[in-house]
Amino acid sequence: MRVPARAIRFTHTFGLGGIALVLFGLLVLSGVLMMFSYDPSPERAWQSVASYQEDTLFGGLVRGVHYWSANLLLPVIVLHLLRVFLTGGFHARRRSNWHLGLGIAFFIFLSGFTGYLLPWDQTAYWAITICTEMLGQVPVIGPAIKSAVIGGSEINAATAVNFYALHVVVTPLAMVALLTWHFWLIRTAGGVVLPTARADEEGRYLPFSPDLLHREAVVSAGVVAAVLVLAFVFDAPLGDPANPGISPNPTKAPWYFAGLQELLIHFDALFAVLVMPLCIVAGLIAAPFVCDGSEPAGDWFLTGNGRRVALVAAVTAVVVVPAFIVFSELVVGQGGWMPGAPTVVSNGLIPFAILGIGVAAFGIVVGKIFSPTRNELVQAVFVFFFVAFLVLTMAGVWFRGAGMDLVWPWRS
Ligand code: HEM
Repeated sequence: MRVPARAIRFTHTFGLGGIALVLFGLLVLSGVLMMFSYDPSPERAWQSVASYQEDTLFGGLVRGVHYWSANLLLPVIVLHLLRVFLTGGFHARRRSNWHLGLGIAFFIFLSGFTGYLLPWDQTAYWAITICTEMLGQVPVIGPAIKSAVIGGSEINAATAVNFYALHVVVTPLAMVALLTWHFWLIRTAGGVVLPTARADEEGRYLPFSPDLLHREAVVSAGVVAAVLVLAFVFDAPLGDPANPGISPNPTKAPWYFAGLQELLIHFDALFAVLVMPLCIVAGLIAAPFVCDGSEPAGDWFLTGNGRRVALVAAVTAVVVVPAFIVFSELVVGQGGWMPGAPTVVSNGLIPFAILGIGVAAFGIVVGKIFSPTRNELVQAVFVFFFVAFLVLTMAGVWFRGAGMDLVWPWRS
């Protein structure tokens, strides 16, 4: 089997899909080993993890490998998604694989979320409490979803069993099935989207083995080595056993939900937990239908103009989002954008409408100055929201202290 030289140029994909696969393999392997001693009950879960970590031969290392693989897989998947989007590998015949990939991303986040609770320490217990409370704030259906997820009105023995079953059976099986399909669709689409060939790559094909196989082997070995080093040097954290009577201050969601928690500080729950996340998901699903599939794709940021417009979008988000956070918190305050009106209007509809007008204005101004193609404009909007979410996450993780007040990171 032979592959085009430009398809395996490292800087085209950065091997991110392969890296994700290796991390997933490490997760399954270390997870199966830990299953022999883990006890999914509120009374014994923490103790079973502590004694596995301290008293079992290589227990600390195995737990570290699981912890680090999980914490690397999430950003690697986001980077892979970015790579696919920013090289235009998501429309035309790759559309169904893009949608499948979104499903894979959902299961990866579900796996991270359900696994977070299993050690049953203070951080885990309260982080999951805060997340399920966010879910419960969704009007009408929220409380029912919350109680189905945690098996009652608060985190208890049923939650432990639910989360354990989701973590060790449902998500891994779903992932194996979806990943098999993912690889099949990459093949049927004729491999990855191709960048413009450099002079030395024009018309050149290379044998799968050794050219691609050796590269994959080197990257895989590098990933395994990096995870082992991290697991050796930094133990997976295990705090005090969960105490449902004492909540830490601040109580923060896991870092990958910190952006959502930050959103909840500024927006009414209906918008923060339902409307805005649904808009993002709908946008990701709709993107391949909005884009022009006949346009050339394959190069990073599509074209030079695409790169410029994306840069403007990223810089706009870096400036606008912190300004919004400070303005909303210090100037607008608790009363919302229209004091006296119901919160769903003053903290929901109004700032949401301002955001919508802002994005439309951005599109018009960028359209006038840079005359982007439709695909370049879609890319810019995607970059804007991605960077905005990144800034919200950083604000939630580093700039929130006691009482979730704004603080400098070195004071939190
Ligand atoms: C553990 C999860 C995943 C694994 C192991 C994986 C693996 C891969 C691999 C090995 C490739 C070939 C090229 C590359 O390395 O980039 C690929 C391509 C692709 N992936 Fe994934 N992927 C995962 C998740 C996702 C997600 C979350 C999305 C998007 C929402 C996605 C969408 C795609 C698409 C559309 C392609 C084809 C792109 C092209 O032709 O350029 N994948 N994936």
